[in-house]
Amino acid sequence: MLKLSPQADIAFCYAPGKVILVGEHAVVYGAQAIAMPIDVGIRVAISHLEKPLLVEGPVIRGVGPLFMGDVTVSRSSAGPGILKSALSYLVDAFGEPLKNLVMVVDGTLPPGRGLGSSASLSVALIRGIFRYFSWPLDDNTLKKHALALETIFHGSPSGIDHTVIIGERVIGFKRQSNEALVWPIKLKSPLKFVIGIVGPHDGTKNAVKELAERKKRHKEVYEGVFQGLNEIAKEMELALIDGHQASVGELMNISQGYLNALSLSTPEIEKLCAIARERGALGAKLTGAGGGGAVIALVDGNGADLQNAFKAAGYQCLMTEVFDERWRLDHSRGGLDG
Ligand code: PMV
Repeated sequence: MLKLSPQADIAFCYAPGKVILVGEHAVVYGAQAIAMPIDVGIRVAISHLEKPLLVEGPVIRGVGPLFMGDVTVSRSSAGPGILKSALSYLVDAFGEPLKNLVMVVDGTLPPGRGLGSSASLSVALIRGIFRYFSWPLDDNTLKKHALALETIFHGSPSGIDHTVIIGERVIGFKRQSNEALVWPIKLKSPLKFVIGIVGPHDGTKNAVKELAERKKRHKEVYEGVFQGLNEIAKEMELALIDGHQASVGELMNISQGYLNALSLSTPEIEKLCAIARERGALGAKLTGAGGGGAVIALVDGNGADLQNAFKAAGYQCLMTEVFDERWRLDHSRGGLDG
């Protein structure tokens, strides 16, 4: 058991997860996407060790549903080895001051479900380290380090995940050359989603790589699909601004059709989408990398009926809500239900 110094300063930080309303994968190829933060996220507590681990420190300790055990630069006793690479990056970036740190990671955001757990972890860790040392942190520095960590986790991320998680508001996002265009989208009316958890996906890195392979075989067709998704994103932005929720839902359904065409859906995803639509959801689609992960369903009531239906079918679920362009930060809510 690692012991913290009794006088230890502790810095706490939190970053939310996210869902993509439209444009996952297509965004990697320059299409517009829309994303928003959600009511579950990752907490980090940062302190230093009483007895420095001269060889192995610093330590990331994952607790709760995220991962168990301690990860150091030289050892990963449990949890994904990729965390070791992330830790190495942090040591290279911040050097000596990190030597005796212990970073305890906890939260309600299930990993590998397309809900932005790696970006949420990256942002919470960077914010925590800067807060712990009272270093000033501007958005550009935060984005730079978060992107570097996301690149370790994902290979070649579009950047949408860490951008929406840092901004904590509904955003439009488009990558042009190497620049990311980001703008806030102001909602006319609040949106309520039930998120059904399908199960872990095979990793965003793999999903993006395999899609690139398929695209090589059917270049024109794939580009046509990305163009279609781009049109959906543009229409959805207007529907969000005008408060036409039925239209937002319809566009989510069309988007799911395209994602299925891109081989990103699974029978379980289709099943959850069908349950959601049967129970009166305005629209339902997979979110994130696909091949598993989660389904988001836009509801116009309180969503209780749909939550019960997901649970009865054997799936965990959670609720999330977003108001105007802002997300209501309420750490007492959220978490998996069912
Ligand atoms: O499943 P997630 O949370 O890793 O979402 C990834 C979104 C993608 O569009 C598939 C990849 C990206 O970098 O934009």
